[in-house]
Amino acid sequence: MELNEDVENSQTPLSEEEREGLKLTFISSKKELNEFEQQNIEEAMLWLVRKSLSANNILSQKFICKLHERMFYNVWSWAGKFRTTDKNIGIHHKEINVALKILCDDVLYWINHKIFEPEEIAIRFKHKLVSIHCFPNGNGRHSRLMADIIIENIFKQQVFTWGIDLKESNQRIREAYIKSIRDADQNNYKPLLKFSRS
Ligand SMILES: Nc1ncnc2c1ncn2[C@@H]1O[C@H](COP(=O)(O)OP(=O)(O)OP(=O)(O)O)[C@@H](O)[C@H]1O
Ligand SMILES: [Mg+2]
Repeated sequence: MELNEDVENSQTPLSEEEREGLKLTFISSKKELNEFEQQNIEEAMLWLVRKSLSANNILSQKFICKLHERMFYNVWSWAGKFRTTDKNIGIHHKEINVALKILCDDVLYWINHKIFEPEEIAIRFKHKLVSIHCFPNGNGRHSRLMADIIIENIFKQQVFTWGIDLKESNQRIREAYIKSIRDADQNNYKPLLKFSRS
């Protein structure tokens, strides 16, 4: 339930591993961490509105890392820097560089040759990006914001809603989201496309 989730988050202390690279050492709970991260993300969104971005700008390692840095630099020392260890999600950390380059080139090709509809291009990119899992954390929020940037700046369409219109508990929304990511892992993008506009 939503309430339980909030109570749990406010009380759960961060583990040693979760604290690694934390710049704000006074933060002790997940809830506080979420709040500071959210403030930082809102600063990044203000930075974004002042920028005019082309497809070539957006689909580059430089921009992808810069955006992550802007979203998390108040909170994490590793903001904008690729992982240096392996995780249970994502590819081997030494392959991130090359995989990201291939992904960006593929997506530019999809855009230039209209291989998929605009929404499907943004959502396929989001899914592949989070599968690479470039950074130690924040990959979910970063990949959703990247999809929003693509749909708004390249295709001049409304940003995605990512489940907020479902009027469900946070936990239910999360379950629907993770399930749609799993479907996308099996090359079925329909649920994630639907979720992103719900
Ligand atoms: N089994 C899973 N559980 C959670 N996330 C998963 C799973 N499989 C893939 N993912 C992806 O990994 C992302 C979480 O990665 P990470 O913790 O680095 O980012 P985050 O910004 O903290 O996540 P989020 O905002 O989505 O909670 C999810 O958004 C999702 O896209
Ligand atoms: Mg996380």
